[in-house]
Amino acid sequence: MEKYRIRGGVRLSGAVDVSGAKNAVVAILPAVILSDSPCLIENIPNIADVSTSLSILESLGAQVNRLDRNTVEIDPRTIHTCEVDYELARHMRASYYFIGALLGKYGQARVPMPGGCWFGERPIDLHLKGFSALGAVMEPMENGIIEMHADMLMGNSVYLDTVSVGATVNIMLAAVKARGMTIIENAAKEPHIVDLANFLNTMGADVRGAGTDVIKIRGVQELTGATYSIIPDQIEAGTYMAMAVATHGDVLVRNVIPKHLESITAKLAEMGALIEEMDDAVRVRCSGPLRHCNVKTMPHPGFPTDMQPQIGVLLSLAEGTSVITEGIWENRFRYVDELRRMGAQVEVDGKTATFQGVPALHAAPVKAVDLRAGAAMVLAGLAAEGVTEVEGICYIERGYEDIVEKLTRLGADIEQVTVPDETGAVQV
Ligand code: UD1
Repeated sequence: MEKYRIRGGVRLSGAVDVSGAKNAVVAILPAVILSDSPCLIENIPNIADVSTSLSILESLGAQVNRLDRNTVEIDPRTIHTCEVDYELARHMRASYYFIGALLGKYGQARVPMPGGCWFGERPIDLHLKGFSALGAVMEPMENGIIEMHADMLMGNSVYLDTVSVGATVNIMLAAVKARGMTIIENAAKEPHIVDLANFLNTMGADVRGAGTDVIKIRGVQELTGATYSIIPDQIEAGTYMAMAVATHGDVLVRNVIPKHLESITAKLAEMGALIEEMDDAVRVRCSGPLRHCNVKTMPHPGFPTDMQPQIGVLLSLAEGTSVITEGIWENRFRYVDELRRMGAQVEVDGKTATFQGVPALHAAPVKAVDLRAGAAMVLAGLAAEGVTEVEGICYIERGYEDIVEKLTRLGADIEQVTVPDETGAVQV
């Protein structure tokens, strides 16, 4: 079993470069299917979800040529099937973007229900409502496989009852080549929605309004290959910012779009951090005690739910009482049990968690229960006195490129170790 072993209490300092955005790349890689010629995608993060997406593309028949660890060339012209492999699909949530992309290009898709992090029910009814509005028909589900087909997709208006990133992306993918105009109302506004729209438009699509809550897509007949660079990862950036604060450090977080970080910056500043914004970097410093504050997660531009566990660690160390209200997911406080093992005082009541700040966290063996919860455990380990071991690091590797190397360069004492599992066998 692989674990991270962290000797906490070291002040982080120096500079860290943020990688390409996970949630953008997992939408843009399937979008390549829509092109009629090869695409070159740059600034892809070297993370497990990218490997899975590329494996799915290869299994469909696309030619995938990784030019280096952050650049890939994909030729979709050799795709010969619209069926996604179960084993690959179950590794990540975003495998459902292959439904929209395959449907949009070939008028058919057979994709297993997706896997990914569990934080309560993760329905896909709005995705299906969108596909059906465009004229796609779904077969009765068998063995957890979603099978959809359409003779011809026709543009239509789709109102999303809940703001959903996944449904917005999937409907955009299905609509770019549909006949006529599709209007997505109450669309998600996350930076990765805008990044996907920019990529599609670079290929020749006609997508307008991304970044607002009404997206208009006029269908085009043909999309051609493009060279495109993925935006920086807002959540990875926010995680390193929180790590700088937790260790009372001084860190320059480079390769970011400060505008995408505004809600995170605002909350860290409220807690007492000093944040200096530059063109494509933010410097984060913190010297005094952390102040309590309240946080509510919301769709963009609100505070992102994917930063909620990390801010929870900071609030467990802040003076006084703080409250987090989770506004997106019904069960995103599972990391709290692990945090309590390190001495945090937190009460959870439904979608609300109340943190009574403690002066320090103490090292303990903890688990990553999902991707961002795992990042939060690393963050807690960096802040705690003693040696913390974090298991379940496969979750963390789904979203953070080279986290051990990046933290080591900031002065952290962290290593990845292989330990015998419960049967005594060392797994490699
Ligand atoms: C995406 C992100 C994830 C982030 C989440 C919220 C990716 C790959 N993942 O997930 O990291 O935590 O946005 O910012 O980009 N809903 C429905 N019906 C649907 C779809 C969603 O009711 O068909 C609800 C969900 O239960 C949830 C809310 O809408 O309460 C938001 O979900 P959504 O934005 O779709 O999340 P994901 O796209 O799965």
